Amino acid sequence: MTTIARSRPSDPDLARTFEDLRAREFSRLDENGYVYLDYTGSALYAVSHLRDHEDFLQHHVLGNPHSENPASAVATRVVEDTRRDVLDFFGADPAEYTAIFTANASAALKLVGESYPFTGGSRFTLLADAHNSVNGIRVYAEQKGAETRYLPLDAELRRDTSVPIPPAGEGPSLFSFPAQSNFSGVRHPLELAEEAKALGYDVLLDAAAYVPTSELDLGAVPADFVCVSFYKMFGFPTGIGALIARREALGKLQRPWFSGGTVEYVTVATRTHRLLRGAGAFEDGTTNFLGIAAVQSGLAFLRDVGMKRVTSRVEDLTARLLEVLSGAAYPNGQPAVCVYGPLSTEERGGTVSFNVLDADGHLVPYGEIERAAGAVGIALRGGCFCNPGAAEQALGLPAGAMLDCLGEIPEGDFSLKKLADCLGGDVPVGALRASVSIPTTDADLDRLEAFFSDLTGA
Ligand SMILES: Cc1ncc(COP(=O)(O)O)c(C=O)c1O
Repeated sequence: MTTIARSRPSDPDLARTFEDLRAREFSRLDENGYVYLDYTGSALYAVSHLRDHEDFLQHHVLGNPHSENPASAVATRVVEDTRRDVLDFFGADPAEYTAIFTANASAALKLVGESYPFTGGSRFTLLADAHNSVNGIRVYAEQKGAETRYLPLDAELRRDTSVPIPPAGEGPSLFSFPAQSNFSGVRHPLELAEEAKALGYDVLLDAAAYVPTSELDLGAVPADFVCVSFYKMFGFPTGIGALIARREALGKLQRPWFSGGTVEYVTVATRTHRLLRGAGAFEDGTTNFLGIAAVQSGLAFLRDVGMKRVTSRVEDLTARLLEVLSGAAYPNGQPAVCVYGPLSTEERGGTVSFNVLDADGHLVPYGEIERAAGAVGIALRGGCFCNPGAAEQALGLPAGAMLDCLGEIPEGDFSLKKLADCLGGDVPVGALRASVSIPTTDADLDRLEAFFSDLTGA
């Protein structure tokens, strides 16, 4: 068996605690015979979290928060209490930070992108390991004449430190990095926030893939803007995220419009308006106040489990996952899996991307494996996971040939399969991703191992 380098031995007591939790909170996985391995796509909700929320809804009357009546006052209190709780969970001092409720992490990123005061002299610098919802900010930056700079990745999909971070431009400049890659699971050093600030940037930290299994303490990480999606942390509710913003940095943003819920006043006769101060100016329309009411019980669930224990447990599971993947081989000795990114548990989370090879070492299209795993109840993710920079580096996709092929594929007709056909031969254009989290058990990983044994005939 392949042994994976790790910082500490696995902890059997911890394993028992989490096995019990699985039985109590996530038994529907076993009732349905599923091996769910797409926690980076979405966490699963615990039943006690759902029950707490249901109980709350059964016993409270909540109305639209933008009013003075008692039902409105309850909703307003819930939203404001949850705002404080979110800041507390991330160690953010309320005097320094505020939390803005959004539809998801992407909406939080869009708020920054569309409002950031880019100018001709600005620079938008980001790691190539960026989610598309961060990549998309380059459109706003470039529309305002700013320059976009990507920082490349090395062979292990970590930042290539031989390429220095360029200093901020002459205009307001934004630096963005993911605390954890949704492609490779690599944890990028949080110290990058301090480094980029010293170079004159405002820092946008994409914490969406990091915070479900790691503690983030904004008292120690001087990010200006941080985005999260709550369903990625505790599975329910979908449709709520947050932009946690340093108040001072928020003051630099220029909203491109106003809407219901964001203004002190608007007049038609004078054509003037004034935005609210702070978070209110960024929450368009009516917030999902019933859903926001569930965020507190979700955070309470994570607090009860304990984020430090979650991180340790995920490290143990990741070591086993890496062992299963890197140990899969055909009877002729040919490895069956090519893992992208680090093959140790150092500075990485529980997300692993890979492709499957046949007994001659040729690539098997990821879609075939995704379907075959699905047929035996194993949920893997296939594709590029909205992270083209990490995928291109991992898969060695040639930029020139890609550009030619992208030009040849007619509009409305794009698929990764067509891109693969155009690039020809053994060039992979996508991968598979397995991710582990709180509900994962060793039995899940045994089933994955058995799937590879069946596939290879080993
Ligand atoms: C690192 C990262 N950033 C941003 C996002 C976007 O999150 P959402 O789709 O919830 O807006 C994701 C989602 O997978 C992600 O993994």
